[in-house]
Amino acid sequence: MKTAKTIEEIRQIVTEYKHDLKTIGLVTTMGNLHKGHLTLVKEAQKNAEKVIVTIFVNPMQFDRPEDLRTYPRTLEQDLALLEEAGVDAVFTPTPEIMYPRGLKNQTYVEVPDLANSLEGALRPGHFNGVATVVSKFFNIIQPDLACFGEKDYQQLALIREMVQDMNFQIRIIGVPIVRHENGLAYSSRNNRLSPEELAKAPEFYACLVRMGDKLKALPDFRSIQKIIDESVNELDGAGFSTDDITVVDAATLSPDIAESKRVVILAAAYLGKVRLIDNLVVEH
Ligand code: PAJ
Repeated sequence: MKTAKTIEEIRQIVTEYKHDLKTIGLVTTMGNLHKGHLTLVKEAQKNAEKVIVTIFVNPMQFDRPEDLRTYPRTLEQDLALLEEAGVDAVFTPTPEIMYPRGLKNQTYVEVPDLANSLEGALRPGHFNGVATVVSKFFNIIQPDLACFGEKDYQQLALIREMVQDMNFQIRIIGVPIVRHENGLAYSSRNNRLSPEELAKAPEFYACLVRMGDKLKALPDFRSIQKIIDESVNELDGAGFSTDDITVVDAATLSPDIAESKRVVILAAAYLGKVRLIDNLVVEH
């Protein structure tokens, strides 16, 4: 497995792959890798001849400095996992390499309205940071395809829209959420939960499943506020502090779901200091 720290080094590797006419699959991550990330790698390997993974804790997408400071960084372990998974090359730049003129002076990419709605309204600037760093990686690596998890549902929708709007010639592959046996979605943030919090955490998904069943039992998705309120109460009762539960159209992410056949429940809740997100698609 090749590793590159600088843009010149990764471009050299990409040039070799392109010279050999190899297709390139990209998986972008912030490290602290788990089974969710490795499933994205497998999907990329299925669809491309060479797979490049980026590991970069992107300061531009953190709306809370505390979150950036405490984000788990486990590079040695990550590299070992990627080597074992048969990844071809890893790009691990520093913030100085990605943002040489500093964050304030950086040209940015904003995807309306997705960047500022839903999760974007709760986390100002977050999605501009995501769209900007991902478009930088797309330009540096120029992959044929890139895999993103449905775990970050709005992020995936935003990337798809950005690729369309900016004419990136890159196929975006969405990968279903990878969960522990108890239903908890794999997340780097789970590592920051205390043993007591970790024991409560599976209730997050269990609550979404119950809410999904209630929504399915309705004739349509017209009056759902009572069901949302019940779920917020259930979560808060189970020791969470619910940040948001929203139901939107699964394709457009529009809150106007009266005519929708497929909706997605987007949920964010704090367990102690850790903000967890999860989602569930419900079809009629
Ligand atoms: P990160 O949280 O490290 O996630 C990297 C990729 O792994 C994302 O596409 C995410 O959706 C996917 N992923 C995480 N947990 C998953 C799970 N349990 N099941 C399936 N996929 C999962 O998302 C980011 O980093 C950043 O915003 C990034 C796109 C790298 C830009 O900085």
